[in-house]
Amino acid sequence: MMLKTEWKEKGYADEPIPAGIDLKKEIRRMAQEKNAVIMAHYYVSGEIQDLADFVGDSLALAQQAAKTDADIIVMCGVHFMGETNKILCPNKKVLVPDLNATCSLAESCRAEEFEDFVKAHPDHTVISYVNTTAATKAVTDVVVTSGNARQIVESFPKDEKIIFAPDQNLGGYINSITGRQMLLWNGACHVHERFSLEKILLMKQQHPEAKVLVHPECKGPVVRVADKVGSTAALLKFAIQDDAQEFIVATESGILHEMQKRCPEKTFLPAPPNDSTCACNECNYMKLITMEKLYNCLKYEWPTVEVDPQVAAQAVRPINRMLEISAQLGL
Ligand code: 13P
Ligand code: SF4
Repeated sequence: MMLKTEWKEKGYADEPIPAGIDLKKEIRRMAQEKNAVIMAHYYVSGEIQDLADFVGDSLALAQQAAKTDADIIVMCGVHFMGETNKILCPNKKVLVPDLNATCSLAESCRAEEFEDFVKAHPDHTVISYVNTTAATKAVTDVVVTSGNARQIVESFPKDEKIIFAPDQNLGGYINSITGRQMLLWNGACHVHERFSLEKILLMKQQHPEAKVLVHPECKGPVVRVADKVGSTAALLKFAIQDDAQEFIVATESGILHEMQKRCPEKTFLPAPPNDSTCACNECNYMKLITMEKLYNCLKYEWPTVEVDPQVAAQAVRPINRMLEISAQLGL
């Protein structure tokens, strides 16, 4: 099938969807026919999460990619997630329905500048969050996700000199709970940085019994009022297991879909961002992934995620190291 030049410029196939088609049924049919696995992060829309073969946080998605026997991986998430899959499975076709789905955190740590920073601190071990480009991972010693960052940092001796990149909020949080003094890159996620402490406290006054769930990419003052700090999967697990009936959720609002599904009797309130005129607790990159783009992406098996083989050869080591340490720690 010929790909249109304008699609390549746009970064996704925008072929009109045939009238009357049952999108969900057709996507599932194509996935089965092509032996494709559809993976989704908790931040994409609820309808995509519902039809995916696997939904998870960044750690679970990487673990799943490493063991899939599908021929095609469709990553309904952002570009660095597709890159991680491609690095782990170089012989598989990896698709991300819209190549414009980048990540402000990954973009805040360009590989060229980061490499200079690493070179200026040759005695430091380099730990990078999974929200980085393949090129940044290539100059990293071990990758972490929000689901294993603390444990992986603590697997190094107390006096180990460490660079932590790119999220200064996650890095600062880990420094605060481990007593480490890791050198932090000053990147951040534009979605998680926007949560308003004042508005969360106001909400807490109106819902005094509610527990506050916070992703560690949020700023320190928001993290400090949390009843639970954790990755999306850890927050979900807490919501399922805890006795509270109400939760204020300070992370991208897509996670509320699975929380509500798993706990229909509980109430989940999205924490408000600073600017109430926009849907700022939504990640605009994750929300670029739509059912229509997923359909076209499976139909045309495009856009594919490609990683330079030399970069991939470097980047696979810190990713595998993360997977090995996580397996040893039972994460
Ligand atoms: P986790 O999936 O590790 O919770 O990370 C959240 C995130 O920002 C992904 O982009
Ligand atoms: Fe990146 Fe933030 Fe979006 Fe996650 S929520 S993909 S860290 S921009």
